[in-house]
Formats: sequence, structure tokens, C-alpha cells
Amino acid sequence: MIALTKAVVNAVKIPVTVKTRLGWDEQSKNIEEVAERLQDVGIQALSIHGRTRAQMYKGEADWSLIAAVKNNPRIHIPIFGNGDIDSPSKAVAYKNRYGVDGVMIGRAAIGYPWIFREIKHYIETGITLPPPEIEERIRVCRQHLEFSLQWKGPKLGILEMRPHYANYLKGLSHIKEFRHKLVHALDAEEVLMIFDEILEYYGQAIS
Ligand SMILES: Cc1cc2nc3c(=O)[nH]c(=O)nc-3n(C[C@H](O)[C@H](O)[C@H](O)COP(=O)(O)O)c2cc1C
Repeated sequence: MIALTKAVVNAVKIPVTVKTRLGWDEQSKNIEEVAERLQDVGIQALSIHGRTRAQMYKGEADWSLIAAVKNNPRIHIPIFGNGDIDSPSKAVAYKNRYGVDGVMIGRAAIGYPWIFREIKHYIETGITLPPPEIEERIRVCRQHLEFSLQWKGPKLGILEMRPHYANYLKGLSHIKEFRHKLVHALDAEEVLMIFDEILEYYGQAIS
């Protein structure tokens, strides 16, 4: 890992940053040593996911070792914490509790990119923004679908969108039937028609 990172740092002119985990498994949580050695070969920032590789996503992320890296007096590069942040209040609480320079968010942003503006607003005002209106959710989901089709083609593009609909439509009452239709739709035309049905249904429900 160190040799590879060193080779990258030497080969490029732009800043190199690293994202990694606490270690390989429960017996090898060596992130404190790894962080020092990565810093020594010239990385500019380090993000740490508070789990081991063997752990995958099991259990809770352990941020205490991330804090240990941050509190190491030898470490001067920015340290970002990662793992299980899924709300503005948790982002702020974890940043303050563990003293990191920032937090990174993975799963909570999937199908919910609004988490970033919610966190920014919460930091600035202490207020949690309401979730986005259905129109905005559908607009962003439609754009995601367009990119997916461009990138993956008509067949895979549709299949890869399927796990995302539930996230985009999370929290809406009576959404189950629409979600079921979306994940069974076979082409873009069908999906777009269901989006229109959703907008019509919730538009009427609101007015
Ligand atoms: C779909 C998906 C793809 C990911 N790809 C990468 C990756 O390419 N590199 C990486 O370091 N971590 C990757 N991760 C892990 C996340 O960056 C993050 O460390 C992990 O999900 C824990 O953060 P979270 O609890 O906020 O999701 C991925 C996670 C997901 C869900």
C-alpha cells in the first residue's frame, strides 16, 4: 500500500489523497501506523472508514481509532471520518465528538443527494431543512435515469436504476404500488410514464 501510494505521489503533479479502512481484520487494525507512513510518502489528506475490510458493513463503524489518528501529534494532514453518517445532526455530532477535519458520506447520499445541502444548512443555522418536494425528487431521479441510459445503454441503464427508486421516493405515503411498478418497468418510456403518474397522484393529494 505504501509503495503503491508513493509511486502515485511521485508520478503526478496534483495532490494525492487516500481513503481506506481501519485495517484488514480485527487482528490487524493498523490504521495509526498506516496513516503516519502514508503521510510520510506525501499524501495530502486521509479519509478513514471506521470498519475493517473483513467486516464489510457489519456492526457499527468504530470512530475511536479515527480520532486516535487525528489526535496523533505527528499527523498534520487533514483527517476525514467516514461510516454510518446519515443525518445532519449525526454529521455535526460525530465531527465534534471525534475532532476530525470533516466527514465523508457514502450510503446515505445514494438516492438522497439532498443530505449535503441539509448538513450545510444545519451547520449554518442549526435547523434541519424539510425533505425535498416530490417534484424535485422526480426531477433528480429522471436526470439520474437519463445519465444511466447514456452511460449503460437502454437495458442495463434501466436495470441499474431499480435499486435507486426506493431511496428517491423514501418516506412518501402510499408509494409502495408505484415503487413496485417502477422496478418492473422494462424501458425508459414506461418509467417516465410512472413518474408522471406519481406527480399527478401526489400533486392531487397535496392540492
Ligand atoms: C455503492 C458503493 C460503492 C462504493 N465504492 C467505493 C470505492 O470505490 N472506494 C472506496 O474507498 N469506498 C467505496 N465505498 C465505501 C464508501 O466510500 C464508504 O466508505 C462506506 O460506504 C461507509 O460509509 P457510509 O456509512 O457513509 O456508507 C462504496 C460504497 C458503496 C455503497
